[in-house]
Amino acid sequence: MPAFWHWFVAAGTIVFIIWCIWLISWSAKQGPQNVADDDLVGHKWDGDLEEWNNPAPKWWLYLYFITIAWSIGYLIAFPGLGSFQGMLGWSQEGQYEAEMQYAAETYEPIYAEFAAMDFDALTKNPDALALGKSLFASYCTTCHGSDARGAVGYPNLTDDNWQWGDTEQAITTSIGQGRNAIMTPWGQILGSDETVTNMANYVRSLSGLAEADEAAQAMATQFTTLCGACHMPDGTGNPLLGAPNLTDDVWLYGSSVDVVSTTIAEGRSGQMPAHGDLFGDNRTKILAAYVYSLSQE
Ligand code: HEC
Ligand code: HEC
Repeated sequence: MPAFWHWFVAAGTIVFIIWCIWLISWSAKQGPQNVADDDLVGHKWDGDLEEWNNPAPKWWLYLYFITIAWSIGYLIAFPGLGSFQGMLGWSQEGQYEAEMQYAAETYEPIYAEFAAMDFDALTKNPDALALGKSLFASYCTTCHGSDARGAVGYPNLTDDNWQWGDTEQAITTSIGQGRNAIMTPWGQILGSDETVTNMANYVRSLSGLAEADEAAQAMATQFTTLCGACHMPDGTGNPLLGAPNLTDDVWLYGSSVDVVSTTIAEGRSGQMPAHGDLFGDNRTKILAAYVYSLSQE
């Protein structure tokens, strides 16, 4: 804070406190108001509500002085008077850091103990799972839902279907580094809405949603060349690229002809944000074990 503002704020505060002291002492010295009727001031509300001509009670007055004394004590002890830091040396950042350090010292050893465990064992350890559950509730439910069942565009984490893989490595990477799915748009390349619809029908036939008619059947070659690189020629997907299996009945964006056509024509790019910096390795592993356990129930 520049010196001018320091003095501006400090002087303003001190002058204001002095003014409060003066005002209260001054008004305490005033006797009853000088009005014709000694008992009543003469104001009247609602027909029968009148103001008596009495000074404020003493305890009321003392309360004012106590609050003023309190404010002076407070301004000496804590920051508040311009850039003066206060005698106690308290600061918001200091308190935050002390709390974070306390949390790290208290909980890090517990995280470390869990993280040292074998992943399989961790997925069955009730204490680790309870910890994972509370982390999930705080950080993941906004997107994946409080029951982890996801929504359109947000994968269901309770099923045994993994877009990016179900190994310890794959799940910790999904959580720690995030995922950036890239399904490029194919509308232009396929040329017409009709071809896109035929391709959608072919894709739907892979999972048995519909019989492929002749026009859809004819897309098989194009599927292999255009889509097979990511989804594999038989459509079973590739977790390394996050390309979903198109032969099962799990759909991230929906399975109707319209939705599948939109996916194909416009592409999709789901994003899972990285949480590694926030959690550190230990908590990421605990969370991964919890997420994996959901798919095993
Ligand atoms: C570059 C790799 C790549 C190619 C090539 C590709 N896809 Fe995809 N596809 C993906 C990825 C990655 C996703 C997941 C998108 C997401 O999660 O947001 C996806 C998603 C989809 C989905 C949505 C599945 C669901 O569960 O909702 C469909 C349908 C699909 N692709 C069809 C196709 C078709 C048809 C082609 C060829 C015309 C094709 N893809 C070509 C990578 C690819
Ligand atoms: C901002 C929304 C958002 C938040 C918050 C979020 N996720 Fe995700 N997550 C996604 C999306 C979207 C995907 C799918 C990305 C894609 O299309 O490939 C995903 C994918 C995943 C996957 C991969 C699933 C698979 O089938 O391979 C895992 C595991 C996961 N999230 C776990 C978590 C955990 C644990 C948290 C909490 C730390 C979390 N996510 C927080 C949006 C989110």
